[in-house]
Amino acid sequence: MGDFALTRHLPGLEVPYVSLGEYPTPIEHLPALGDVWLKREDLSSPIYGGNKIRTLETLFADAQARGIKRVWTLGAYGSNQAVACILHARRVGLEPGAVLFPQRATPTGADNLRVTLSECERVKVLRSIVTFPLHWWRFMREHGRSSYLVPPGGANPLGALGHAANALEIAEQVAAGLMPTPAHCVLAVGSTCTTAGLLVGLPLAQKLGLWAGELPKLHAVRVTPWPVTSRSQILKLARSTARYLEQIGGPRIDIDPKMLVLNTRHFGWGYARVTRSALAAKQHFEELTAPPLDTTYAAKSGAALLELSKELAGPILFWCTKSSAPLPRVDAAKLANGPAFVLRWLTRAQPNR
Ligand SMILES: Cc1ncc(COP(=O)(O)O)c(C=O)c1O
Repeated sequence: MGDFALTRHLPGLEVPYVSLGEYPTPIEHLPALGDVWLKREDLSSPIYGGNKIRTLETLFADAQARGIKRVWTLGAYGSNQAVACILHARRVGLEPGAVLFPQRATPTGADNLRVTLSECERVKVLRSIVTFPLHWWRFMREHGRSSYLVPPGGANPLGALGHAANALEIAEQVAAGLMPTPAHCVLAVGSTCTTAGLLVGLPLAQKLGLWAGELPKLHAVRVTPWPVTSRSQILKLARSTARYLEQIGGPRIDIDPKMLVLNTRHFGWGYARVTRSALAAKQHFEELTAPPLDTTYAAKSGAALLELSKELAGPILFWCTKSSAPLPRVDAAKLANGPAFVLRWLTRAQPNR
């Protein structure tokens, strides 16, 4: 608990940090898939884990440093970030809120929305994405000054530094012999925050002498549409994160675009639209008693992993990004008072998780 690898290796760095997660997250071999290893980000917290926790640690600390008590986040109905934000903010004295826009109804999305509504008083559920700009303008007028805004996915340079720290953590785990040096990493790319952070953190680990050998290729598996997850957007956030790192006292890091492989093969028809390959990967992981894969994010990267494990040589490290912590019990009375269009959306959720 409370281990921020970035300031441990760069003690002079002026970066806000508040501890939410439990690190290092384990690395485990998945021998059934050959030379495949799992980075168990799903275990980053028993309260609610997944990849969003590292992002919130720097962003929440920034809110605290600015003396702001209320943190708002923005995401789709089934947003993992909204759940993470709501369940962790109160632990560090912050009051959470969320603005949610519609997505395709899925069971895991519905589970998340139930928790979000049950656990948080300040949730604005939009009926349509079309009205979002108007709502956002009104929202900013009302809350802009008094609130801290966590961007979708936490995708800004400060949020991405949490994932840069993870790269140092992995370098230490490799040096400790927990796995051979990965030649490839496979992860879902949604807001670009995690991928961009790793594009900074891995060369940083090399610069600090923590990484032996070549840096791995990052296979970022698209789960949100272009242009959100275009190559240029991912590299743009990586470069601005590297600049920010230098501004706060870190070394200069050059981003190598050749490290990034954008994998678009498993996106299907859109964000949160379930694909056959994702369902097959989810089922395969269940059979192997491997960590859970959700159909919106991790199962699409899982599908890419199954394919790439047959095509690529060398150790592959797969990011288990979906929390495996049990969700809190939902207050049914609170839900029943929700708007009719939200209740309809919840009942539309499909049986395939
Ligand atoms: C379970 C899960 N996996 C992967 C991602 C993608 O990570 P990023 O938004 O940092 O690209 C998300 C984003 O919300 C997520 O919730």
